[in-house]
Amino acid sequence: MMTDLILFAGTANPALATAIATELGVRLAVCTVDRFPDGETTVQLGESVRGRDVFLIQSTGPPVNDHLMELLACVDACRRSAAGRIIAVVPYFGYARSDKRHGRREPINASLVASLMQAAGIDHVVTVDLHAAQIEGFFHIPVDSLTAVPTLCQALRDRLPPEAVVVSPDAGRVKMATEYAARLGAPVVVLHKRRGGSAETAVTHVVGDVRGRACLIIDDMISTGETLAQAIKALLAADARPEITIAATHGLFIGDALTRLSHETVRRVFITDTTAQTESTWPPLQVVSVAPLLAAAIRQIGADGSLGDLFLDAPVPAQAVKAQEGCERQSC
Ligand code: R5P
Repeated sequence: MMTDLILFAGTANPALATAIATELGVRLAVCTVDRFPDGETTVQLGESVRGRDVFLIQSTGPPVNDHLMELLACVDACRRSAAGRIIAVVPYFGYARSDKRHGRREPINASLVASLMQAAGIDHVVTVDLHAAQIEGFFHIPVDSLTAVPTLCQALRDRLPPEAVVVSPDAGRVKMATEYAARLGAPVVVLHKRRGGSAETAVTHVVGDVRGRACLIIDDMISTGETLAQAIKALLAADARPEITIAATHGLFIGDALTRLSHETVRRVFITDTTAQTESTWPPLQVVSVAPLLAAAIRQIGADGSLGDLFLDAPVPAQAVKAQEGCERQSC
C-alpha cells in the first residue's frame, strides 16, 4: 500500500513528470523555480512535506549545472521542511560519463555529484540506464538504476528487418547490447571505438560478421551523434546492408546531432523521454515513454516493495538466449 507520497518536479522535463503523475493517478505538487538576475537558482515548494515520502523528478541533462542545482535546492528545501524520505528520480543522470579518471589531474565528476546529492539530503536515487554500473558505488544510499531496454525492445519488436544484428558501438555497451540481443533473438556485433577528444571518435575494428545484415545500433545515449555516425560508417564499410535502426535510452541531440544522423541508411531512431523531447519533424525519430516504468518504481518504493519485476517484460525465448551466449563468447 502506498504511503503518503508527494511528487514534485524541477523544470528539466515537465512532460515526463506530468506523464508519471498521470500514471500514478496523483497530481504534481507545485514547485516554483526562480533564477535571480545573476544566475543563482531558488525554489519554493508549494505544499507541506512534513513527514512525507517526497519524490523529486528531475533529469540533470542540459543545461546540466542548472538542472543539478535545481535538484539540490529542492532537496535542501525538503530537508529543512522536515520531509520524511527524499527520493530523487533522475531519469537522466548528468556527469555519468565522468566515472573514472582518463588522465592525471582530472576529476571524477560522477563521484562529486553523488557526494553533493548525499550532502544535500537525498535518501534514495532512482535513475534509468546509468552510464556505468559502478556509479552506484559512489553512493552509500540506495540507487535503483532501472533499464529502458525492455520498453525499447517492445517498441522495436516487429519493426526490425529480419536477420538484423545488434551492434554495440563500443566495449562499454556490450552488456546492454547482449540484453537487447537476448530479447530480440539476434546476434551481437561489437565495434572497437577509440575516443580522441570529447566529441571525436573513430571505429578501428568490427568484431563479428555484418555482411548483408541490417543493423540495430544500440547505445545508452546520443549526445553529439558522433559515436553513431562513426559506427554507421564502419558498418557500411564492412558491407552491412544499408538499413540501420538506432535505439538509445537518452536522446540529448546536442548541436548538429540530427544532421549527423540524417543518413540515408538510417530508417528509425528509437529513444525514450528521459530528457525533454521537443516536437520533432524528423521522421525517423520515435520517442518511447519511460513514464510507466518510473511510475511503477515510485509506486513500489512508496509501498516499500521490490523493484525486481520492473526488469522483466515478455519472456525471452530460450533459443535466442542460447544463440546469444555463443555470440557473447566470440566477441568477448
Ligand atoms: C560513451 O561511452 C557513451 O556510451 C555514448 O556512446 C556517447 O557518450 C555518445 O556521445 P556522442 O553522441 O557525442 O558520440
